[in-house]
Amino acid sequence: MQSSVKKQIFAIPGSLRSGSSNHNILNFLSKLSPASVNFAIYDELATIPPFDPGNDNDTPPESVTKFRDLIAEANGIIICTPEYAFGIPGQLKNALDWTVSSGSFSGKPTALITASTGGENAHTALLKVLGAIDANLSDDTTLLISYIRSKMDAAGNITDADTEEKIKTVFNNLLNSI
Ligand SMILES: Cc1cc2nc3c(=O)[nH]c(=O)nc-3n(C[C@H](O)[C@H](O)[C@H](O)COP(=O)(O)O)c2cc1C
Repeated sequence: MQSSVKKQIFAIPGSLRSGSSNHNILNFLSKLSPASVNFAIYDELATIPPFDPGNDNDTPPESVTKFRDLIAEANGIIICTPEYAFGIPGQLKNALDWTVSSGSFSGKPTALITASTGGENAHTALLKVLGAIDANLSDDTTLLISYIRSKMDAAGNITDADTEEKIKTVFNNLLNSI
């Protein structure tokens, strides 16, 4: 008998910017999701306090507990992020640092899309970080999109067919890995 329980995808955008290209990509995937999938986009990254190992104890900040729980409850994670100053956006790296001790990502099917002007540095660094926290990802669930702004119109629609296809493929590969 097939389970009627929906697959939970937890999507984490690395940009806090209103109108963000990375948010637009996640919104696109949300609309594309089959009925068997519940696609939730995290919009509370800014509430995660700076990582402090001294507070990484049995009673961490409430927003951190919630973030960890959302990851734990998800069947799959998708991170979609730009690069800032040749690196991972600080607020995203900060949130990931809080998951080292909790092991929240361990074995969790994960997709990474880095959509930026260039993005190679953040993409490479994130692959290392995700490896360090034991996320379950592969070449099939990772994608670097450079010159993202030229591949999207002012309304946030993806205008480059090849990019759209690659985004869909990564998402389908994630769903298939769950
Ligand atoms: C402070 C700052 C630094 C940036 N540094 C980089 C960079 O090092 N590499 C890069 O690819 N893009 C860089 N960008 C450009 C971003 O990739 C671009 O603004 C992207 O659209 C941001 O993602 P978003 O649209 O999801 O907010 C930078 C942007 C800002 C505001």
